[in-house]
Amino acid sequence: MAKISTIGILTSGGDSPGMNAAIRAVTRAAIYSGWKVKAIYRGYEGLIHNDIEEFTTESVSGTIQRGGTILRTARSKDFLTPEGRAKAFENIKANGIDALIVIGGNGSLAGAQELAQEYDIPCIGLPGTIDNDLYGTDTTIGYDTALNTIMDCIDKIRDTANSHNRIFFIEVMGRDAGFLAQNSAIAAGAEAAIIPEETTDEEQLEKFVGRGVRKSKNSSIVIVSESKKGKGALYYADRVKEEYPDYDVRVTILGHLQRGGMPTASDRILASRLGVAAIEALKDGQRNVMIGVSNDKIVYVPFNKAIKLDKPIDRELINVLSVLSI
Ligand code: F6P
Repeated sequence: MAKISTIGILTSGGDSPGMNAAIRAVTRAAIYSGWKVKAIYRGYEGLIHNDIEEFTTESVSGTIQRGGTILRTARSKDFLTPEGRAKAFENIKANGIDALIVIGGNGSLAGAQELAQEYDIPCIGLPGTIDNDLYGTDTTIGYDTALNTIMDCIDKIRDTANSHNRIFFIEVMGRDAGFLAQNSAIAAGAEAAIIPEETTDEEQLEKFVGRGVRKSKNSSIVIVSESKKGKGALYYADRVKEEYPDYDVRVTILGHLQRGGMPTASDRILASRLGVAAIEALKDGQRNVMIGVSNDKIVYVPFNKAIKLDKPIDRELINVLSVLSI
């Protein structure tokens, strides 16, 4: 395998809190190992357009606590084409980059896998997404922060819901994964969560309404996972309004506020560990793997497993919410 002396680093797809801590860790661990770091801006889009500069240890000073990504990010359409990837590889060569570290979610790691298959460039992925939907790692960078942000929002909504005796449907992010919905529902004591992994969303709504939770409580909160498979909080709210005109129903869609803010300690530590492990992995001759954490130990997960296999939601979590929301 060719000797590595310069790495490239980029963030891609939806930003997540803790990405900066990961960029910082990769940069410092690489420099600590005597390597150079080329920072690639705007994800694969910046790689195609040669938006690249060298990073020093100072480049990442004062960034560990910042949300978003200092490298900025993009969902590059051009990179999905063979021509786009050819241009990207040209710039990898022109900048003397021997290995690439990609921080992002499913689509971003799929891009790294494709590049690594077509060209001789070792790629390492770090799981950076609030969705927590990558297989092989217990958690992803940004998930804990987003979960805490959602929990804070639900707590606030509960105050007004209680005061008015209302049902709230709160829609949270997660793409097609229900981790944010299920666990924020448990953490904030919500009455139900409608998630794409669990039976049909219709049945989940029936279950919630059927339990008649409002009779015993001043308010009810149902967390709805956004998902192309489901119908969204507005739909369920309308249905309940139609079928139970006595219920006072409101909807809140939390949206992109879930992605911002200072990363929690857990996300900063996770990102720091994964960043250092990414450099260690390259030194060990690893390529085309995502670095994850399983049972608190660093693991290497081949790209095709990380992005292709479904990460299931533990049935125990579904049971916990059902038991506690009586
Ligand atoms: O993958 C992260 C995520 O925040 C998803 O939860 C959400 O579906 C999506 O990105 C939103 O993407 P965008 O920022 O492009 O609207």
